Amino acid sequence: MIQLLRMGNPIHTGAIIDNIETDITYVETLPAWKIDKALGTLEKQLSDTMTVFGLGETVRGINKRGWIYVSNNSDDPNHTEDKHSLYASQNFLLITTPDAEMVEGVFIDDPGTVTFDIGYTLLDRLTIRSGSGNADIYRITARTASEVVHLFRTIIGQSYIPPKWAFGFGQSRWGYQTMEDIQNVYDAYHNASIPIDSIYLDIDYMERYKDFTINSTRFPDFPAFVKKMQKNNIHLVPIIDAGVKIEEGYDIYEEGCENDYFVKKENGERLVAAVWPGRVHFPDFFKPEVQDWFGQKYQILINQGIDGFWNDMNEPAIFYTDDHLKEVFDNLENYRNQNLDIQSFFEFKALVSSIDNNPEDYRRFYHEHEGKLIRHDKVHNLYGFYMTKSAGEALKRIEPEKRTLLFSRSSYIGMHRYGGVWTGDNKSWWSHLLLALQQLPALNMCGFLYSGSDMGGFGADCTEDLMARWLELAILTPLYRNHTSLGSRFQELYRFSCIDGFRRIIELRYALIPYIYSEFMKAAHNDCMYFQPLSFIWDADPRAYEIEDQIMAGESIMLAPVVHQNMTGRYVYLPEDMKLIRFRSWNQYTEEILNKGNHYIKCGLFETILFLRKGHVLPLAAPALSTAEIDYSTINYITYDADPLDYELYNDDGISRKV
Ligand code: GLC
Repeated sequence: MIQLLRMGNPIHTGAIIDNIETDITYVETLPAWKIDKALGTLEKQLSDTMTVFGLGETVRGINKRGWIYVSNNSDDPNHTEDKHSLYASQNFLLITTPDAEMVEGVFIDDPGTVTFDIGYTLLDRLTIRSGSGNADIYRITARTASEVVHLFRTIIGQSYIPPKWAFGFGQSRWGYQTMEDIQNVYDAYHNASIPIDSIYLDIDYMERYKDFTINSTRFPDFPAFVKKMQKNNIHLVPIIDAGVKIEEGYDIYEEGCENDYFVKKENGERLVAAVWPGRVHFPDFFKPEVQDWFGQKYQILINQGIDGFWNDMNEPAIFYTDDHLKEVFDNLENYRNQNLDIQSFFEFKALVSSIDNNPEDYRRFYHEHEGKLIRHDKVHNLYGFYMTKSAGEALKRIEPEKRTLLFSRSSYIGMHRYGGVWTGDNKSWWSHLLLALQQLPALNMCGFLYSGSDMGGFGADCTEDLMARWLELAILTPLYRNHTSLGSRFQELYRFSCIDGFRRIIELRYALIPYIYSEFMKAAHNDCMYFQPLSFIWDADPRAYEIEDQIMAGESIMLAPVVHQNMTGRYVYLPEDMKLIRFRSWNQYTEEILNKGNHYIKCGLFETILFLRKGHVLPLAAPALSTAEIDYSTINYITYDADPLDYELYNDDGISRKV
C-alpha cells in the first residue's frame, strides 16, 4: 500500500514517474507517526528491535540507527563517520523488525535540506525534518522489506542499464595527461595479461578544463586514438564537469550567455563561481531547453567514438564565488598586522576556510523551474540529477538503439533512471573498504543498481593488501573501477609486486560476469535489489539484522569479504547451510559445505571467498581479456543441491537498448 501525505507546497521533482500504475492514497495523517506540518517534522517511536535501513549513499553502517544524516549534497572528500552529508540525497528509508507483520518504507520527496535523526537525540525516536516544510511524504507498507522496496521502485521507475562492457574492469587516475599515458596504462595491463575494458579520462584530457573539448596537443588525433583503443576492446570514458568555463570564443560559454542558459543571481547577473577551469557559469539544468542543449553537447564526444561518461562536480562543487571571495579579501584586511588572540584567530581561520562550498553561496542564485524562480538552496539536491537527466535523455536521442555508460557523483532519487553513481572521493582506508560494502544495499533500495566505489581508495596512498582486498570485496559490484587522486601513490595493479595475484582476482571477476550481468539485469527488469542486507532474505532471524559486513549479491551468493588489514580470515555468520567456495583463481577452487551458524573462515590475501546458497547455482565462464571476448559456451556451473538448469542465465548483445 502506498500513502501520500503532502506538507506545505512541494515542487515537482521528477523523483516519482509521471504515469504511475500503482494506487496511491492521499492521506492527512500516517498511522504511528506524529506529524507537525508547521515544523515540517514527522516522528516515530523506535522499538528496541527495529532496524532502519536505507538513505542510499551515507556514512556509517547498514543499520542507520544512532546518527543524524542530513540530505545536502556536498563536495566533501573526507567521509569520516562524524559527517552528516555526502554527495547524494536518497531520502528513502525502511523500518522493520524480525517479527514484523508489516514493513514500512518512507520516502521524503523534498530536494532541499532534510534531516534524519535516527535515534541520535533520543535513542528510541526517529525524527525526520523537512527544512522548508514542503515535502511529499510517501509511506509504503507491505509484508516484507523486499516487497516494500519493489513497490517503491514501481513508482520511481526502472533503473538505468549500462552496456555490458561497463561491468568489466576499469582503470582510472586523476593525473593521466596524454595519449601516451593512456597508451602506457593499456600496454602495461596487456603485457601483464590482466583483463580490462575501460580507461577513464579525468580532467586533463580537456583543453583548459573546458567541457566537450579535447586538448589537441596531448591527444593529437583523438578519434583515431579512441578507435585504436576500441580495437583492443578498451572504452575511453571522459569526465564531464558541471561548470562551464568563462572564456570568450568558447562556443559553449557563448551559446549559454546568448540564450540565457546559466544560473543568475537575484539582480539578474549571471553567478560567477569557480571550479577546475577557474571562473565558470553553471547551466540552469532546471530549464528543459538547457537540459536539451547541454545534453546534446555529449554528441561532440560521441562523434569521436566515445561511448561512456562520468558526470562530476555536480553538487555543484564551488571553489569560490566572485562575490564571496571579494567579501573574504575585504575582511582579511581587518586582520593584517594584528596580534590574533584566541577569538580573532579562530574568526580569521573561519574566514579563510569559508571560501569553498560556502552555504551562503548556494543562496546566491536561482533556477527557473516550471515557470517559477526558485532559490538554489531550496532545490539544491536536484542539480546533479538534472545534469545527468540532461545527458541521459540526450544520449537516448542521439543513439536510440544503443546503451551508453553514464554515472554521476551527485544524485537524488529519480536519477537512477538515467545513470549510475560512484561514491566519490573515498580514501585508501580499511574503514572505507567496509563502508563501500555497506553503501551498496542502501543504494540498491533507492534504485541505484549501477554503482560502486573507487577501488583502492581515491585519496591517500593505497597498499598492495588493501587493493587486493578491495578487488575481492567488490568482485560482484557492477561498477568495478580502480581510481585514485592526483598526488597519491600509483595504484594500477601492475605497479604492485604480486601481479599474478591481481591477475587471478580480475580473471575471476571476468569468469563471474555471466552471473553479475544476469543478476543485474533481472534486478533492473523486475525492480528488485541486486545487493541485499541479509535480513531481507532471512527476515525471521534476529542475527541477520545485525550483520554489517556480509551482504547478498544476486540470488545465489553471499559476500563476506575480509575488511581488516593483516587478517588471513574472518568470522562469518551463516543464516542457513551454505557452500563455501574458496577461489585461488577462477579454475582453482575448493568447495565445502558449512552448517548454519558461526564459522571462522580462512582467506589468504589473494583468495576470494564466496558463499553459495543451498538450492542455488553459480555460473562461471572461462575468463577473457575483455567482456566482449567472454565465451558463454565455456560456462561451468557450481551448484549446491541444485541443477544448473535451475538457474536462469540472462544474456543479450550487451549494447542494445531494446531490453
Ligand atoms: C573530483 C572527483 C574525482 C576526480 C577529481 C578530478 O574530486 O570526485 O573522481 O578525479 O575531481 O577531476
